[in-house]
Amino acid sequence: VVPTIALNDGNKIPILALGTYSGKGDKMRQTVNWAVEAGYRHIDTASLYQNEADIGKGIAEVINKGLVKREDLFITTKLWNDKHRRDQVVPALKESLSRLGLQYVDLYLIHSPESENADGTPANIDYLDTWKGMEEAKQLGLAKSIGVSNFDTEQVKRIVKNSQTPPAVNQIEVHAANTREQLVSDMQNLGIAVMAYSPLGFLVNRGQASVPPPQLDDPTLTKIAQKYGKSTTQVVLRYLIDRGMIPIPKSTNQDRLQQNIDLFNFSLTPEEVATINKFNVNKSVFE
Ligand code: A2P
Repeated sequence: VVPTIALNDGNKIPILALGTYSGKGDKMRQTVNWAVEAGYRHIDTASLYQNEADIGKGIAEVINKGLVKREDLFITTKLWNDKHRRDQVVPALKESLSRLGLQYVDLYLIHSPESENADGTPANIDYLDTWKGMEEAKQLGLAKSIGVSNFDTEQVKRIVKNSQTPPAVNQIEVHAANTREQLVSDMQNLGIAVMAYSPLGFLVNRGQASVPPPQLDDPTLTKIAQKYGKSTTQVVLRYLIDRGMIPIPKSTNQDRLQQNIDLFNFSLTPEEVATINKFNVNKSVFE
């Protein structure tokens, strides 16, 4: 199964998670079953994704089948931007828990530092107030660990300086074409674990007209992949693990989600990690 590391609050987190952005309905429920059968123990969702209820059904199934116990799973979800007021945080988490059918999540993240009103206009709520609500959620035992997503170093440091509880995690976009080296090392120096979303970067076709390398058949990645008897997608996922991060590849395809977890019988050399870092062009897949 997937190795774990200790977070700065002492809780353990599996170093690979199943991403679920855009996965919905019965397919998502089925995917949770496939993922747990394949060895995934960490599932990442968000109230934004509108799939917490589907994931909850899948979780109930794998537990009822006796595949795992609740305490073997690590479930992450996120607070959306329209619930940033301090007094909205615990109620929003309770709604996520009810959709997931859980008593607690392992990790609750502020999805973004930006707050919005219900109509999508900026709400100008200080994320330090939101963080106080997150600390309440942790104190109530509704979230075992709390963290942030899409925060920069300055924003994370502001929480660290002004709060009782430092974030355990910052979840950000990281992949070969967007290596985020300064931000990642800043987080690591602060003792904050980094979860890497969109970890496959431009290796997958996201419908963009022109994309930077590396792509699936990249010669440099292919050479490294052949050395280890792996695929280029496995190489870029392992690259993130070898940089100390927790990649979150999304797949609702049984074969691909099995490939994406088959990363724990090889590792890259520091030279290979440095070679992959050279692909960096600071380009987000969402641009
Ligand atoms: P699918 O769900 O059909 O497998 P990311 O997590 O970097 O955002 O990537 C997610 C996208 O990559 C999804 O469209 C997913 O499609 C696809 N994908 C996931 N794993 C692989 C893989 N091993 N090879 C190719 N495409 C993949």
